[in-house]
Amino acid sequence: MKKLLLSILLAAGINCFAQTIKSPDGKLTLTFSINPEGVPIYTLYSREKTIIKNSELGIQLADQPSFVKNFSVVKTDSSLVDESWNPVWGEVKTIRNHYRELAVTLQQSDVKNRFIILRFRIFNEGLGFRYEFPMQNNLNYFTITDELTQFNVAEDNTAFWIPGDYDSNEYFYTKTRLSGIDATIGKTITEISVRSIIGKNYVQTPLTMKSDDGYYINIFEAALNNYPAMQIRVDQTNFVLKSHLVPDAVGNKAYMQTPCSTPWRTVLASKNAVDLLDSKMILNLNEPSKIKDVSWIKPMKFMGIWWEMHVGKSSWNYADLNNVNLSLTDWNSLKPNGKHGATTEKAKRYIDFAAKNGIEGLLIEGWDVGWEDWFGKWKEDVFDFVTPYPDFNLAEVSKYASEKNVKLIMHHETSGSATNYERRMDEAYALMKKFGYPAVKTGYVGKIIPRGEYHDGQWMVNHYIRVAQKLAENKLMLDAHEPARPTGMSRTYPNWLASEAARGNEFNAWSRGNPPEHETILPFTRLLGGPMDYTPGIFQIKMNYYDPQKKEQVHTTLAKQLALYVTMYSPLQMAADLPENYERFPDAFQFIKDVAVDWDDTKYLEAEPGDYITAARKAKGTNDWFIGAITDENSRTAKINLSFLDKNKKYTATIYADADNAHWEKNPMAYKIYTKPVTSEDILKIKLAEGGGCAVSIKPL
Ligand code: NOJ
Ligand code: CA
Repeated sequence: MKKLLLSILLAAGINCFAQTIKSPDGKLTLTFSINPEGVPIYTLYSREKTIIKNSELGIQLADQPSFVKNFSVVKTDSSLVDESWNPVWGEVKTIRNHYRELAVTLQQSDVKNRFIILRFRIFNEGLGFRYEFPMQNNLNYFTITDELTQFNVAEDNTAFWIPGDYDSNEYFYTKTRLSGIDATIGKTITEISVRSIIGKNYVQTPLTMKSDDGYYINIFEAALNNYPAMQIRVDQTNFVLKSHLVPDAVGNKAYMQTPCSTPWRTVLASKNAVDLLDSKMILNLNEPSKIKDVSWIKPMKFMGIWWEMHVGKSSWNYADLNNVNLSLTDWNSLKPNGKHGATTEKAKRYIDFAAKNGIEGLLIEGWDVGWEDWFGKWKEDVFDFVTPYPDFNLAEVSKYASEKNVKLIMHHETSGSATNYERRMDEAYALMKKFGYPAVKTGYVGKIIPRGEYHDGQWMVNHYIRVAQKLAENKLMLDAHEPARPTGMSRTYPNWLASEAARGNEFNAWSRGNPPEHETILPFTRLLGGPMDYTPGIFQIKMNYYDPQKKEQVHTTLAKQLALYVTMYSPLQMAADLPENYERFPDAFQFIKDVAVDWDDTKYLEAEPGDYITAARKAKGTNDWFIGAITDENSRTAKINLSFLDKNKKYTATIYADADNAHWEKNPMAYKIYTKPVTSEDILKIKLAEGGGCAVSIKPL
């Protein structure tokens, strides 16, 4: 009957259509309709609230009629999916993928024989939808000049935003109403090396908002592949958010060939903040693993010849020179500056420390020639990724590491020259294999080459994926710094363990740093797309320890640095401070040694973006639990209900808490450690200092 009605309407050329689907639990509703101009429209509402009011969908094309109006519906399909899958690593052992789908095939009355599909998936916690372009006679190769997707939130929500920027996501968050956004503040964040700020009312996704009636709403995307990243243009009067795609060097947005689709556009909505943290929707919208044998993919903790460069104790470069020509330089003839970090001796010292303390990996930065010419040039061939400095004996270091059972993590700083990296990566990965490095940290500090491309444009998005693919072919793992932020792609390429793609702890070493609330916002924004290599574990909080002139500091207490191992999920966690600093505080370092990096279960116990997060996680294959609780610049008492513990078991909790007089600025390194017998009946009440936190490890007796 419905079909009959539809065909009568279509035959009469009447563009009127509406269909509704509900989430599996019936609490969220999606409506899809076509307005009188033939523009596709969707809305999303819960039982109490319209989350997204009438919002238009459309794609603009170069040199041919666009997909924006005069649409009518050719057919619709709907289905219910309920399946489970086990991630290679993750916050939980098993993920349920449960949604109702509506696929609408559309055709335009004024364009002959061309069609697209709008596919919607509604989950209990949100909505994903995308544009699909099936193979067809009248649409093959095409260029997207704009995407017109709207998210009409229609209210002046409070937003946690970073400036819209084509090149960098290394900003701290600002909390204002949508009407109060002024992204030009990005111009003052000069500690970020490359910025391409779009304009006053442009912000990045994931964008998390809170409505006055207490809804937490997040706008983001999933499965970003062969397309630019989506940022948001905010209409500051009517609060219609609109997609804004990162352009390429000539101003286009994406080059496509059928069959193809856009990434998923996503909306998460809940009255409970923890539902956003619990959601696996972004992962579920990504394709299953393309890697068949995943036995070689292993989460790990690692140290680094790294922080010592950031605090100025040593250097990446070997000689104090500038403007070095890679191909002409005789590195053995250069005069060393006496501060080079990555020496054979230093590497052995770190390997010894890691081996002694059960830290599986070691990153060594500044091992390869080129750093004399690194920063701020727009130069194609800065590094070759294979030639070690004269004082770094690759064979000797790798032999030493393998004898001590420490895995070396290679470092490839590309300086943004992706072309150079692509030309050299086969050789570079062969070298890694030869010397037994199972993982690489890549970096993209600098303006992108191909010149005119941006970090978050289609070309670079594809580059990051090519790197992950090529590494997978070589059974190598990836940690990418300065890429486009992740969108759940680690489901498809589980060798891509982590990315930075946000403002990491490193900013605390040499800039105004990250405000105490920063780590309470990241899990609600950036981490929704995947793990972050945040580099926690800094014990020496104030940088004047290294140089009395320095005013910089980490904006947390020491205990909060421990808590971050739990609250900031990543299968790759750095013990980022120097060995000698850990040796000063062996009792606190014990938590870093003990904490797991892979989990069977996760419970977010309490959370409010910008204020606090408490998370408990059960270590993979054990009965051990680890808890992290963090707060912003305000002190608070974390209430940790242990009801998730097994009912009939007794446990011992070791609590790493802020000392009574701790304070992130005035007294950041004061902590106390105590143990306590606990059961599932207990509620721990632990005071967190201003900018503080606590970490707890719980083991069965
Ligand atoms: C920025 C990265 O985030 C940091 O970890 C690295 O040490 C430097 N670039 C040098 O590559
Ligand atoms: Ca960085």
